[in-house]
Amino acid sequence: MSIIEKAVDKLRSDDASANKKNQQQVGAAGDAQCLDTQKYDTCQEKSQESLPSPSAAEQSKPQQADQPLGVDVSAQPEALAKPEPQPATPKKLDIEMMALNLAGILTDDSHRTRQAEEMRMIKRPILQNAFGKKHKPSEHSNLLMVTSAIAGEGKTFTSLNLALSIAAEMDRTVLMVDSDLAKPGLSRLLRIDDKPGLTNYLRDEEKDIGKLLLRTDIPKLTALPAGSRHAHCTELLASNRMKQLFHELAVRYPDRIVIFDSPPLLVTSEASVLASFIGQIVLVVESDRTPQHLVKDALAQLGSTDNVSLILNKCKKGFLSTQMGSYGYGYGYGYGNESDQQ
Ligand SMILES: Nc1ncnc2c1ncn2[C@@H]1O[C@H](COP(=O)(O)OP(=O)(O)O)[C@@H](O)[C@H]1O
Ligand SMILES: [Mg+2]
Repeated sequence: MSIIEKAVDKLRSDDASANKKNQQQVGAAGDAQCLDTQKYDTCQEKSQESLPSPSAAEQSKPQQADQPLGVDVSAQPEALAKPEPQPATPKKLDIEMMALNLAGILTDDSHRTRQAEEMRMIKRPILQNAFGKKHKPSEHSNLLMVTSAIAGEGKTFTSLNLALSIAAEMDRTVLMVDSDLAKPGLSRLLRIDDKPGLTNYLRDEEKDIGKLLLRTDIPKLTALPAGSRHAHCTELLASNRMKQLFHELAVRYPDRIVIFDSPPLLVTSEASVLASFIGQIVLVVESDRTPQHLVKDALAQLGSTDNVSLILNKCKKGFLSTQMGSYGYGYGYGYGNESDQQ
């Protein structure tokens, strides 16, 4: 069980109303290697835990039709005579993102941290490429794939933090897609690994992708789970239906960014398949762990590096803020080119 999962487990067992006040810090560096990269193909442990209970606001009953004491009845006689039908209790949210705060995942509350600052610097060029003047929807520039050479480098962590950071933007909505079908870390983290998702859509078990999207308690953030396990992940991701889905996601909501938490490039062939349809690629590199030759191999798998950016993750001291000495993203962001790869 990873550091994030442990923290989320602990948090969910607490009273939800205490979450905001809890300032507990989670030490990140020590557990960073806990994912076993040698066992990438093994099935993920299915979480038996049910989804979190709805927040207090969601649980509140619909407003009573009776007028409260003290209302000036003469002011609204018609409204009193014919009370408006009250809306049904809102649908329960599928995911409570705020619960991830303790696990080192950015939320609205953590916007002054060094990690939030770094994430802002990372997202700016991504948004510029996705929605700037030069962007072309036909090139799927609003589709962003987060991958790495090997497992455990921080793809899921980066995807989620990036998604939260972009969702905090005024005009942007974000869809997170768990496309790491063999090891769906995002779905596990969000406790949606028992929900139908991408594989069910690709197998035509669900025709409407909209029905598979799950709402979060962050209004501009939705998620598509990986879905049921399937033996032929690569074939599913390379299918015509997947191509159509990419196109639909790219053009249907042009101001939305879609982040694909993807498999590692050197462990499966799925990431290379995905990369061929995606406008922007972020390659996460784990500091002090991933050897340079693996990074080069991963870049070679991607072919052209025109749309590839590198993020050095888990730096103990960052270029951006070396005084902090804590653990997080250590450097900025920039598109790779031939000279960068030497
Ligand atoms: N920048 C970071 N700071 C702290 N912990 C991190 C960071 N990036 C990743 N981790 C931790 O490292 C582990 C592996 O990260 P994860 O995102 O699951 O990797 P991947 O998706 O590439 O397999 C997780 O426990 C995660 O919480
Ligand atoms: Mg992952």
